[in-house]
Amino acid sequence: MSVSVAVVGATGAVGEIMRQVLAERNFPFSSIKFLASERSVGKPIDFKGKRYIIEAIRPEAFAGVQIVLSSTPASVSRETSPMAAKAGAIVIDNSSAWRMDPDVPLVVPEVNADALRNIPKGIVANPNCSTIQMVVALKPLHDLAKIKRVVVATYQASSGKGAKGVYELDAQITAIGKGEKVPPVTAHAAQLAGNVLPHDWKLGEDGYSEEEIKMVMETKKIMGDDSIQVSPTTARVPVRTGHSEAINIEFERPITVEQAREALSKSPGVIVLDDYAKGEVPLALTCEGRDETFVGRIRKDLTIPNGLNIWVVADNLRKGAATNAVQIAEVLVACGWLRG
Ligand SMILES: NC(=O)c1ccc[n+]([C@@H]2O[C@H](COP(=O)([O-])OP(=O)(O)OC[C@H]3O[C@@H](n4cnc5c(N)ncnc54)[C@H](OP(=O)(O)O)[C@@H]3O)[C@@H](O)[C@H]2O)c1
Repeated sequence: MSVSVAVVGATGAVGEIMRQVLAERNFPFSSIKFLASERSVGKPIDFKGKRYIIEAIRPEAFAGVQIVLSSTPASVSRETSPMAAKAGAIVIDNSSAWRMDPDVPLVVPEVNADALRNIPKGIVANPNCSTIQMVVALKPLHDLAKIKRVVVATYQASSGKGAKGVYELDAQITAIGKGEKVPPVTAHAAQLAGNVLPHDWKLGEDGYSEEEIKMVMETKKIMGDDSIQVSPTTARVPVRTGHSEAINIEFERPITVEQAREALSKSPGVIVLDDYAKGEVPLALTCEGRDETFVGRIRKDLTIPNGLNIWVVADNLRKGAATNAVQIAEVLVACGWLRG
């Protein structure tokens, strides 16, 4: 079965990888179109050796489209995703606009693909990038020993801020390399080159960032378990692509390092890289361009009876965004869960 597809936000950091992932996975499309802001309308865009012209995001553009892969800012998605759904498409939305809506499934296929059986608004939300890689690693461990509490610290790449986040880091590194003045900061909260930013997101009155609250709320929704406590600290580091996470997990039941390693090794979408003697450690650089979630540094928490520490890395533009969205589309097509 092949379907008609529209890629919305096709010119962005996620949109670019979306095109790559669709091509690599040979996604079965009967027709495809690419949409972006008025700034890009009329410009050429290449896909699978063919040239397309970028179209505007308006209701007529979605006529006959079955699946929309959307990666625009949340303020745009609030308007455009219902527009596409109204035209009859299922929209897989990468923004934060719809994730906590009770009528919108929030899906990581390795964890809760079944949630795709019911899509009341015609919109499926793709979770936050930091949450996706964390739940892929947590799910097999939760099934084994039931997670009580997670304490997570993230080390997030500049591309999480979109194309502008990467350009800014690159420009800073180039300026520093040439001994020149670093250009004014506009994308990140402060100079990222040579720095770590624990405040690269808007902080709420409780002192937590939007990113941290997303990790708390989205984990409960995807795992289908409100009892899981998540205590996060998110930080931006001078890495182009690939988020790393140090995750401490407390379980209700005993679990050994060997059991955890075995369960993770057998889990779909997970690669265990955990042989220190062989130099096997998940690194942002080696995970860039890969679709899997990499887990290493699996070790016992020596301070509590049932605890583990793990290190989890994934490409934030792939598994954290485009790959997860395309996997959702693949499930919809394979199961025939389309509209109309
Ligand atoms: N980067 C990540 O790691 C990541 C991970 C998960 C989720 N997300 C989410 O995915 C979405 C896209 O992120 P990104 O990193 O790809 O951002 P980006 O690089 O800034 O790209 C944004 C895209 O949206 C379009 N757009 C911007 N303003 C628009 C407007 N007013 N009307 C119509 N289209 C507009 C842009 O088109 P033009 O090029 O024409 O301006 C571009 O195609 C965001 O909601 C983000 O939170 C990002």
